Amino acid sequence: MIPNVLSIAGSDPSGGAGMQADIKAISANGAFAMAAITALTVQNTRGVRDICLVSPSFVHGQIQAVFDDIHVHAVKIGMIANAEIAHAVAEALAGQDIPIVLDPVMIAKGGASLLDLSAVAVVREALLPMATVLTPNLLEAAHLLGTEVATTRPDMEMQGRALLALGSAAVLVKGGHLTGDDCPDCLVTADSCVWFESARIATRKTHGTGCTLSSALAAQIAHMRDLPAAAAAAKSYVTAAIAQADDLNVGSGHGPTHHFASFYIPSEETRS
Ligand SMILES: Nc1ncnc2c1ncn2[C@@H]1O[C@H](COP(=O)(O)OP(=O)(O)OP(=O)(O)O)[C@@H](O)[C@H]1O
Ligand SMILES: [Mg+2]
Repeated sequence: MIPNVLSIAGSDPSGGAGMQADIKAISANGAFAMAAITALTVQNTRGVRDICLVSPSFVHGQIQAVFDDIHVHAVKIGMIANAEIAHAVAEALAGQDIPIVLDPVMIAKGGASLLDLSAVAVVREALLPMATVLTPNLLEAAHLLGTEVATTRPDMEMQGRALLALGSAAVLVKGGHLTGDDCPDCLVTADSCVWFESARIATRKTHGTGCTLSSALAAQIAHMRDLPAAAAAAKSYVTAAIAQADDLNVGSGHGPTHHFASFYIPSEETRS
């Protein structure tokens, strides 16, 4: 059976991040993608120019409409923008016994803020305890904990453990913002710490890597994989998508990753 995965996130018209990345990553990971939009952004690969928020009641209505009709096997939460939308999402998901991947999106690659300061407390108190797995990057982990940004693997593991105490069942601390030759991610649960390794790929085409990883993870969990197996599959998927990003010719800033790298068969003309 093909599982159904609901993403609750913002739209990126340039197609590489946000909801557009989520739909591609969920689809490429063998699940049916559904989309409740929290915000429209005006952005391209160079940065975010403007944001138009969807009203909290409309966000709630979208999620409710999906649950009223469709069996949802996993949820991914991305950009939630402000405290009111965070409350609406928490209320719409309350009482649902489904795996939730919470990607605490705060700042876009170009530096734009995607979450109000006042919303961080709501994410921490209302959404985090509902999450099966939280997927912060290093800056988000530090911000949620009110501490320094991790620069080493022991720091990452320690911050993962501290975040676990806030209530999610697991934390995947992403190492994309480390400065070395590798991009290790660290999955911390109550009784384990598992590392997922990859070499750092030398490319600027990393628009939406976080959205892509968390959506792939939600789809892999929806396939009933256990968390370490799902995280391993999601990590290899995002690594391949980054490695193949040069096949795409999209924009002059941080270009998108190739969500369908393993599906496309380039013709002779497009190859050259
Ligand atoms: N240059 C790279 N080479 C290989 N893997 C990378 C690279 N950059 C990021 N990753 C991997 O991509 C995934 C997303 O991590 P990252 O830290 O970039 O998330 P993020 O900052 O939330 O991304 P975004 O800016 O899209 O929100 C992780 O598995 C990370 O290890
Ligand atoms: Mg991110």
